[in-house]
Amino acid sequence: MEEKVIDESRQGEALMLQDNNQGKRKLFLESYGCQMNFSDSEIVASILKNEGFSTTQDYTEADVIFVNTCAIREGAEQRVRNRLVEFKHAKKKKPEMIVGVLGCMAERLKEKFLDEEKIVDIVVGPDAYRDLPNLIGKVEGGQKAVNVILSKEETYADITPVRLDSNGVSAFISIMRGCDNMCSFCVVPFTRGRERSRDPESIVKEAKELFDQGYREVTLLGQNVDSYIFAGGGLKKEILTEEQKANATTFAQLLEMVAQIHPDLRIRYSTSNPRDMTDEVLHVMAKYDNICKYIHLPVQSGSTRVLEVMNRGYTREQYMDRINAIKRIMPDCAISSDIITGFCTETEEEHQETLSLMEWVEYDFSYMFAYSERPKTLAERQYKDDIPEEVKKRRLTEVIALQQKLSEKKTKAQVGKVHRVLIEHESKKSADMWMGRNTQNTVVVFPKGNYKKGEYVNVLVEKCTATTLIGKAID
Ligand code: 5AD
Ligand code: SF4
Repeated sequence: MEEKVIDESRQGEALMLQDNNQGKRKLFLESYGCQMNFSDSEIVASILKNEGFSTTQDYTEADVIFVNTCAIREGAEQRVRNRLVEFKHAKKKKPEMIVGVLGCMAERLKEKFLDEEKIVDIVVGPDAYRDLPNLIGKVEGGQKAVNVILSKEETYADITPVRLDSNGVSAFISIMRGCDNMCSFCVVPFTRGRERSRDPESIVKEAKELFDQGYREVTLLGQNVDSYIFAGGGLKKEILTEEQKANATTFAQLLEMVAQIHPDLRIRYSTSNPRDMTDEVLHVMAKYDNICKYIHLPVQSGSTRVLEVMNRGYTREQYMDRINAIKRIMPDCAISSDIITGFCTETEEEHQETLSLMEWVEYDFSYMFAYSERPKTLAERQYKDDIPEEVKKRRLTEVIALQQKLSEKKTKAQVGKVHRVLIEHESKKSADMWMGRNTQNTVVVFPKGNYKKGEYVNVLVEKCTATTLIGKAID
């Protein structure tokens, strides 16, 4: 598989996380799911570092095992349960070991987790990480500990994350938490609570500090960055007056503030929402070379009727209008998507509409999933999960095959061109090559020469595989 695939398939895969601290107590921290979860794990590591913990990659020697979990599809939860069986064996040998379940699955199952998985001592939802030291103390005192309280204010703005598994070049910055969208398939509003935006000053400060430490790329994270709005501490979006709204910081403004830190600091962000994405954001992107020309704009389905059942808040035509706006304002911008196949009531014709929309957009990349019903969601309560598993899977295969064709076409079109590449790390395939990305987020591999990690290099692309560009530096 190509580098891009390995790297991007982070979603849903486990990451064992490590820092460089020398604390006495050992923490084994593993993260599943999205980039936001990974970013949360860096907050958790920071909180525990202050308690004298350092991370280990060997869970058998850990004093505390934390699994930061994802609940988005049943498969994600099953992977965590299988992993807990392995930890059970380690705990048998070392009974004082504490096992904690963090994140979305903890929030979804709450106390039930303690009954279902007997080895679990701590259950903590995404807004309760400040309580971890206290909860660990409780377990050391012989009790089980649960905190799944969701907050309307918590953004962990004042906590400096401990960068885990870092290449020292790129880092995530969480700019908001939660989601108010209520897409009918999605468990996130239930596991991550109400949407709230973080103080822009704290975001800019974090990005500046990263730049000063040598980082050259930040990815601003939120479930729906286009609805970012900050009007002052404690002021919630729903109750803002017109005047407060007019004076508030929007996502377009935040993006510009971060872009102005330094021309050599690249900015990426995720995730955009077709319902809320403004032309203003696109113009800011076009204005700054250091804002990467890449937008992740999940469509989910190409059928207006299915989109309505999904409660996405836009039609096929409105989505196409947003794509046209991107192409008009930034003709060289890469676009990626999320797609769900076999959602409740989806007909064969509607599935074909998804395929035809993919062809029309010509996505550079997509994350594609078969629908997985989640407890408590609108879809679970209102619709029957009526598409047979084999139909969902077959439609998924068709979507994946088409995306592969589109990605290959996009990658091939780059051969012969010069790309400005930020070097991230050594290529996984060869110790003589660097791996970096161009602004469109495509992986570029080239011979190391005298270049260093964190430098920008102009690379002439000479050939490619399905998703990786291969070339030589021409500076
Ligand atoms: N089943 C399948 N895929 C889902 N996603 C979210 N909820 C579900 C579900 N219940 C996908 C969506 C979303 C991405 C993060 O995961 O495509 O954009
Ligand atoms: Fe991230 Fe959603 Fe999974 Fe929670 S459920 S970890 S928000 S992808």
